Amino acid sequence: MQIFGNEIREIITEEEITKRVKEIADSLSVKFADEIPILIGVLNGSFIFMADLMRKMSIDCEMDFIKISSYSGKESVGTVKLLKDISADITNRHVIIVEDIIDSGLTIKFLKERLLGAGPKSVTVVALLLKPEIADIDYKIDFVGFEIPPDFVVGYGLDFNQKLRHLPSIYCLEG
Ligand code: IMP
Ligand code: MG
Repeated sequence: MQIFGNEIREIITEEEITKRVKEIADSLSVKFADEIPILIGVLNGSFIFMADLMRKMSIDCEMDFIKISSYSGKESVGTVKLLKDISADITNRHVIIVEDIIDSGLTIKFLKERLLGAGPKSVTVVALLLKPEIADIDYKIDFVGFEIPPDFVVGYGLDFNQKLRHLPSIYCLEG
């Protein structure tokens, strides 16, 4: 289908996302029962996922955001830039990194190392999407919503040059 001049194809529906987000929230609520973890959302892409995930959690939790950039258009630029750091003190805290998508793995590697440097009690990684054919990471991502093929995707927070984030489902950007 066409939207704002872009050819897109739905690959994950709103209903599928809602169901999976609830499953992940339930697992986190069990894993961190009797703790108060701090969710760190990776801006901008994770803002919708973060909001939905938090609201499905049944335990108390806090949140903060970090802003990173590694992408321009449909290509990773190969280096990670820190645009906004967290404000919270995560020393001795259970940290949950909330990422929209893991593509090459560069961003998550950078983030995990950086946050580990602050001496948290634990770091758990949650990614809504993972491109396993591309991702070069030597550890298991703790929670993955969906594994997808190595195509460029938009919607549910994910953008193409800052646009299309507000689409409710996840779409493959064609062409
Ligand atoms: P990585 O560092 O290559 O793993 O890329 C991670 C970041 O690039 C994600 O947080 C997204 O912001 C962005 N990104 C990677 N793949 C896509 C995509 O298919 N659509 C939109 N953004 C993407
Ligand atoms: Mg991102």
